[in-house]
Amino acid sequence: MRLQVQFLLPGMKIFAPVYGPKGELLLPKRAILTEANIAKLRQHNILAVYIETDLVVDHIENLIDDLIRVETQALVREWAEKHGDHKLFQGIKKNVKQIVSDVISGKTVQYGLAEIYAGRAYTYAHSVDVCILAIMAGYRLNYSRPALLDLAIGSLLHDLGKAKLDKMILNKPGKLTDMEMSGVRRHPELGFQMLIQHEDISPVAGGVVLSHHERLDGSGYPFGLKDNAIPRSATICAIADVYNALTTDRVYRKAIPPGAAYEILEGSEDRLFPSWALKAFLKCIVPYPVGTLTRLSTGDMACVVAVNQLSPLQPKVVLPETKTRLDLAQECDIQIAGCSSEREIQKLLDHAIRCVDF
Ligand SMILES: [Fe+2]
Repeated sequence: MRLQVQFLLPGMKIFAPVYGPKGELLLPKRAILTEANIAKLRQHNILAVYIETDLVVDHIENLIDDLIRVETQALVREWAEKHGDHKLFQGIKKNVKQIVSDVISGKTVQYGLAEIYAGRAYTYAHSVDVCILAIMAGYRLNYSRPALLDLAIGSLLHDLGKAKLDKMILNKPGKLTDMEMSGVRRHPELGFQMLIQHEDISPVAGGVVLSHHERLDGSGYPFGLKDNAIPRSATICAIADVYNALTTDRVYRKAIPPGAAYEILEGSEDRLFPSWALKAFLKCIVPYPVGTLTRLSTGDMACVVAVNQLSPLQPKVVLPETKTRLDLAQECDIQIAGCSSEREIQKLLDHAIRCVDF
């Protein structure tokens, strides 16, 4: 079960390893929490972790190897800071090839995606997550492997231009002034200029970086492109970028639950994003990943224990207090009404959930 750090208690067992902002291992899989390591998670701004409970029996699998993820994040960070060292770029390309192979090799998608929602430092972790989501959507759209590689490299480097922006502005918790906003809006062009200095970057990858904030109705930037003027790969990256940004905690707002982000994206069909791309993307994501605590229309709290592939908005759940299992695809009168509030989670922790070895 995924729990925000504020709810962690000594004695709970970590289900998946926890990494720090620079990719350093903070807690290994199956570590038992102590006051000291809960404090360590707070110090590193980790917002949520997976803990073992007797409710969730499925495993959360990574879509890509942790080491590749961490190494790729570090390479992109270093490459951005050194403004495009050739040797580092070869390392990025090698890792992207591996990521493409891992993502399309048919591992269990829904549990891997659940891993994406674990709290991590935003900037470079976000790039790897957007890259993975874009590969999944591209694969569903029958992209060839070379086309997937271009899409993946562009998606991994989509926010590269932010390395040239003032970090104070990027990390500003409040609303940006008009001048600050217009500075931030330069990042697609800045990133594109950094990329085109390298001969081995394809025009497709460059187009993803330049156009990932363009929108179907012309409301995007930097050029306000419309419809078919927006490169297809940039559209895929844009949807992945929005989804990942919505479901991740930012300095200026809390993450939105995946189910709510799913619905927001659905509502943007044919307005901000074309149907062909949005439908393919939504098939790749799981609105209620295993381990999510939800509130049902009956008022009961429920923990998602399995995803229904054919009906992603109706997962299988268990009611923690009675251990009743429900398949929401079979329960016409019961829907997920929302995510559990902090108070409900606390109540649940106090009264019902007993962690394994707790
Ligand atoms: Fe961006």
